[in-house]
Amino acid sequence: MLLALGAVLTLSLMCSTQATNLNLRSLAQKQGLNIGAAVLTGVLQKEPTYRRVLAREFNMLTPENHMKFKPLHPERDRYDFAPADVLVDFAKENDMQVRGHTLVWHHSLPEWLEKGEWTREELMAILQEHIYTVVERYRGQVVEWDVVNEAIADDASLRKSIWLNVIGSDYIEMAFRWAHEADPTVKLFYNDYGSEGINSKSDAIYALVKSLRDRHVPIDGVGLQMHVRADKPPSAEKVAANMKRLGELGLEVHITEMDVKIEHATGTLEEKLTAQANVYRDMMQVCLTAENCDTFVLWGFTDLHSWIPRYLKQPDSPLIFDKFYNPKPAYDALVEVLN
Ligand code: XIL
Repeated sequence: MLLALGAVLTLSLMCSTQATNLNLRSLAQKQGLNIGAAVLTGVLQKEPTYRRVLAREFNMLTPENHMKFKPLHPERDRYDFAPADVLVDFAKENDMQVRGHTLVWHHSLPEWLEKGEWTREELMAILQEHIYTVVERYRGQVVEWDVVNEAIADDASLRKSIWLNVIGSDYIEMAFRWAHEADPTVKLFYNDYGSEGINSKSDAIYALVKSLRDRHVPIDGVGLQMHVRADKPPSAEKVAANMKRLGELGLEVHITEMDVKIEHATGTLEEKLTAQANVYRDMMQVCLTAENCDTFVLWGFTDLHSWIPRYLKQPDSPLIFDKFYNPKPAYDALVEVLN
């Protein structure tokens, strides 16, 4: 009798743990999907809850800042891998994959690089050395790199940057070739914002990556950052159409930096959170439906540490957990669509 009671108790305990085991990570895994978040090293080191939720909900992470040029390569002859390594080690311990972000960008450049007066040959040598060093260092640990980030401006022209100005437009293909030489197994991505659907910017990106493919430059995919607003949601049809045309070039498409701002939306807080949840749900649905999308990464996971309020200097709540790590309607929407 006592034994039977014990068995029933154990069984019901098991069931309730199973119910709480319903998390994004296990649901995504069943769909063969990588679900990730951008991660801040300082916060990871300080906050146990941040670490716990991250490892429970995600099977992939992107260093939010510490693999960018400036933090990684602060002086011409010195690299600082330590803060990025903290994240790579955390990923290893928790059986997560790492997206490398980012090798070539107009932003986050060290002073020594920006202030230098380089010839074309010198700057090419600097970029090649940087890419070789970083990609080789993380060989086998980073599964995909954002090789070139935001090289197309909002008016669809090539963005002015030290790379374009000094090297010329072929810095883009050089970067992909060098990254491939440093690690022939890692996947290589072009990553940008404001080009999720079909518009003049995504047309320009399409033309760029098509020309890279035509010339056999090693590129595996395009990252759609997906920094969007709940009141101006991206059209699911247009994002699907963009993914499809990139797929026809043989390219993968990953959602790489999703967050959904709600401050411009009208209505009650509840209505704003519902609108936000719908955007997360729709974009996850588009990715799951597309043949060439198997990776969905958010730019953070708790509103407590989102870059948006700092960057736009106004409060917002663009992520799927609130400041107290409670799941928001957006979280439930992702669970629902993954289920
Ligand atoms: C942002 C980080 O989130 C901030 O912490 C940092 O101050 C600036 O960069 N597109 C990108 C990311 O590719 O690297 C940016 O990250 C956000 C926009």
